[in-house]
Amino acid sequence: MTLRDQQINSQMEAVRGLYDGSSYYIETHGCQMNEHDSHKIATLLEEMGFQWAPEEEADFVLLNTCSVRHSAEDKVIGHIGRLKHEKEQRPHLKVGVCGCMMQRDESRNYVLSTFPHVDLVFGTNNIFELPRLLLEMGEKKRAVSITDEYHTFDDQLMIGDRNSVREYVNIMYGCNNFCTYCIVPYTRGRETSRPVGDILEEVKLLGERGVKEIVLLGQNVNSYGKNLQEVVSFPELLRQVHEVPGIERIQFLTSHPKDISRELIDSYGDLPKLASYLHLPVQSGSNDVLKRMNRHYTREQYLEIVAQVRRARPDIALSTDIIVGFPGETEEDFQDTLDLVREVRYDSAFTFLYSRRSGTKADTMEDQIDQDVKNERFQRLLEVVYAIQKEKNEALFGTTQQVLFESVSKKDATRMTGRTSGYKLVHAPYDETALGKIVPVRIEGGNTFSLEGTVLHG
Ligand code: 5AD
Ligand code: SF4
Repeated sequence: MTLRDQQINSQMEAVRGLYDGSSYYIETHGCQMNEHDSHKIATLLEEMGFQWAPEEEADFVLLNTCSVRHSAEDKVIGHIGRLKHEKEQRPHLKVGVCGCMMQRDESRNYVLSTFPHVDLVFGTNNIFELPRLLLEMGEKKRAVSITDEYHTFDDQLMIGDRNSVREYVNIMYGCNNFCTYCIVPYTRGRETSRPVGDILEEVKLLGERGVKEIVLLGQNVNSYGKNLQEVVSFPELLRQVHEVPGIERIQFLTSHPKDISRELIDSYGDLPKLASYLHLPVQSGSNDVLKRMNRHYTREQYLEIVAQVRRARPDIALSTDIIVGFPGETEEDFQDTLDLVREVRYDSAFTFLYSRRSGTKADTMEDQIDQDVKNERFQRLLEVVYAIQKEKNEALFGTTQQVLFESVSKKDATRMTGRTSGYKLVHAPYDETALGKIVPVRIEGGNTFSLEGTVLHG
């Protein structure tokens, strides 16, 4: 055990004494990276004796924030404002704000100066400091910690007693791409890869605890390993994770098309545990727009990757991200996007209205698109996306899919929910023997957003 571990352990003990019996609530905005961070924070808090409670009852409310779109920031600001009133009713309430917004000087300074009732502020690289920060906050001081750099040792610390069967594992942090619309390189900093040994150790631990599916997380997983002392490619990492006992399915997020290698595409043929799913953000179907977004690929190159991936794994499900209303987007550009969606036929697509982010290059571009035009294009895109999504789901009716059942349905305890290898949501009658396992399921129906089926026995 390192000196640092001992220090953290004693801090955790002290927190346990100070906040004995306290409850917490975390509200998470944004992407899987944030969800995973919140999960780590929750694990750490529970190890220090906190218990989860609904927001209205919790002693400590933490907002894990996102900066990607303006609307997400607005929501957080509104929420912090409401918590001021809540604190007037319940003065012992502690309020914390963390995540991407706190990495931006502009947003952090605004929160710190406008809302004196915020007791704790920390950034995306400071989760491992939580014990110390909670102690500081307990002394009635406002605790603040932000660093630009990622510290490599925080992940294992926060594995805790996870009991889910599908878990995220960070493999890299930050992004070097500077897509012109995107705030992430400014909030999450430069790309840093976690050493292979650390990742494998975490995956092994999770495998031993009964985790069946691992999701490898990074803003741009295809450039994994470039900054490591011993350069390791992402497909090589996949091969090593593939060997870990207990792990039956591997997914990864997110891939930048410009960095997809032949080797990665071949992995779909070579590694049977690799999920039949690829999230490949296209952002736009117009070469002009792609160029101004600084994406470094053309529509034709993107379509070629899709064709190659489908050759390597014919049943692969594809999803994407699309931005509507990027500065200068013409009706023709938008038609190119619709055409591309019709050509690829995505299993699902995350669609976004372009949002201006100060500090990014696109924010200074001329020809910002009218909100009405953006909204109208967004609706047209959704119609095309959903129609295809529905057809894709209907094509699975009558087939048998391997489904990992993760949980009993929240709304109905007689049902359970899981995901296919292509990441499609499946509902089925509750079956004790199937929960927590990958089992064959006959798909009997469904709609645009989910499938219905029954577990096959014998
Ligand atoms: N406006 C709208 N969507 C954005 N995204 C990133 N930045 C912006 C922005 N400024 C979208 C991209 C990215 C996804 C995570 O969020 O599509 O892939
Ligand atoms: Fe943002 Fe582009 Fe990096 Fe993705 S690849 S996080 S869109 S800058």
